[in-house]
Amino acid sequence: MLDEIKFAIDGTQIKANKGDTILKAALKHGIYIPHLCDHPDLEPFGGCRLCMVEIKGKGLSISCKVPVEEGLEIITESPEVNKVRRIAAELLIASHHVDCLECARNTDCKLQDVASYIGIEEGRLKRLKRVIKDLPIDDSNPFFIRDLNKCVLCGICIRTCGEILNVGAIDFAFRGTGTLVATVGGKPILQSRCVSCGECVARCPVGALVPKNAERPTREVSTVCTYCGVGCGIKLGVRGGRIVRVRGDVNSPANRGNLCVKGRFGYDFVNHPDRLTSPLIKRNGAFVEATFEEALDLVASKLTDYKGDQFATFASARITTEDNYVVQKFTRAVMGTNNLDHCARL
Ligand code: FES
Repeated sequence: MLDEIKFAIDGTQIKANKGDTILKAALKHGIYIPHLCDHPDLEPFGGCRLCMVEIKGKGLSISCKVPVEEGLEIITESPEVNKVRRIAAELLIASHHVDCLECARNTDCKLQDVASYIGIEEGRLKRLKRVIKDLPIDDSNPFFIRDLNKCVLCGICIRTCGEILNVGAIDFAFRGTGTLVATVGGKPILQSRCVSCGECVARCPVGALVPKNAERPTREVSTVCTYCGVGCGIKLGVRGGRIVRVRGDVNSPANRGNLCVKGRFGYDFVNHPDRLTSPLIKRNGAFVEATFEEALDLVASKLTDYKGDQFATFASARITTEDNYVVQKFTRAVMGTNNLDHCARL
């Protein structure tokens, strides 16, 4: 059993596991402390300084890096804490393109959450806005857009690429006010080592990394990715009967929310206008549309001509997991062969 630590946040007694950071323990108990660069999947970074709290007898400290200790008394709001937090937030926002209404992450942005919690004054921001970034937008990747004008240098994309993917396609480049997240040599992301998995896009707290398809789903359907045998849990974001987004299911033991490029972005075939929606039968040398009954009757009438290893099945990632199960059952149990493959293996 994990050791339990007792401490207090704003006068309320809290229990947490040994090793938990103050921020993690607070969020677990529904106590909001503003934060931007912290992410539960990643090692603490301590870059944004927004999660500042006061520890009685010890002074100010960032809560995302400091582990809880028995008897600590934490204060999340005090004039000093608020002052430091406000300065940190203002400096972040001051070098950020504030065009929220046009941003694909509007209303789903952590910087907006922080700004409205702290209450940033517009007039003060205008005075602070000395550095206006005007960096070209990188839309070289087929699936997502990088707009570094909206980047807050939280480093979540860099740590995701390094810690979770072990790819390391991006890193901080330059120093001081010119710091940017860049690929080696500052090349477009498509020319880098990026594998297009979109894990950084899924974790970006602002609008610096957004999917090209910016439509927002109105509901989600839980299912399993059909592309390979790992069985990643996915949430299909649906809008008007179409899939407009896919995200990993964090509760799935197979992938714990992570996805590859195919699972996350390879869903356009579902609604593609070129997709065959009725069977084709070759008649007089040309394919003609037929009903499913006609196609099934034709195939069934010919199947009896083959048995065992004369027969092979090639299944598809573009049918459901359940349909693929039936395909393998039919191949093995009815046709008596293990000659069975699937396009995802190639
Ligand atoms: Fe703690 Fe950024 S969340 S420093």
